[in-house]
Amino acid sequence: MPVSSTTPVIHTPARHVMENSHAAAERVARSIIETVRQKPRTVLGLATGATMEPVYRHLVAAHAGGAVSFAGVTSFNLDEYANLAPTHPGSYRSTMNRLFFDHVDIDPGKTFLPDGQSRDRRAAAQAYEAAIVAAGGIDLQLLGLGGNGHIGFNEPGSALSSRTRQVALHISTIEANRGFFADGAVPAEAITMGIGTILEARRILVLATGSRKAAAVRSALYGTITENCPASALLAHPSVTWIVDRDAASLMA
Ligand code: GLP
Repeated sequence: MPVSSTTPVIHTPARHVMENSHAAAERVARSIIETVRQKPRTVLGLATGATMEPVYRHLVAAHAGGAVSFAGVTSFNLDEYANLAPTHPGSYRSTMNRLFFDHVDIDPGKTFLPDGQSRDRRAAAQAYEAAIVAAGGIDLQLLGLGGNGHIGFNEPGSALSSRTRQVALHISTIEANRGFFADGAVPAEAITMGIGTILEARRILVLATGSRKAAAVRSALYGTITENCPASALLAHPSVTWIVDRDAASLMA
């Protein structure tokens, strides 16, 4: 979907406020399962972060119970840290393997993350965009939300038209992710799909839980697109569903 960086049309996203984070994650998982059942060759855009962990637990359990197969699915993760070996436990590649890919029947050769180790980051970013296009585009993009409103690693100030690229992480993002690194050494840079890349997905599912996300949820859904809150750019997309728990919805207008 082409999006103008000057005067995008504002859409009203669907919102579901769930009782708690468990119910919210389960609802997101159900939506993914339904999508994959309807279209076994779905191209999924996947996300990391603590919020997503229960989603992957549900998907793994559903697969173990025979409710869904991921054999035809291709996946593209939103982002990856720069200068981190894929085998590093803090990398998003090893996180995805540990939480999801290793436990389902997805073809590992069809699971993609940006190459944060490439010497030529621009080329790696362009190759990632090209791979998404070659796969037919993303059918369903799963998104979490940073406490500062970031999506992927698109920090405040990211342009609505931004594409996959190397970015510097905000200090608050580094702090928020420190717990995922045993030595506390969070990389300062990452490669992320851009906001423009994310907005090209056919459908977008946002999951936000906990009071730490309440202010960002409010800014994202306030009704105006601002670079101060990257998630507000999602208002430019006609098919976005927000699934939040009561805590994350507590400041929602
Ligand atoms: C990281 C990821 C984002 C994610 C965010 C929220 O910064 N790059 O894609 O949405 O964290 O993480 P959490 O769910 O741990 O709050």
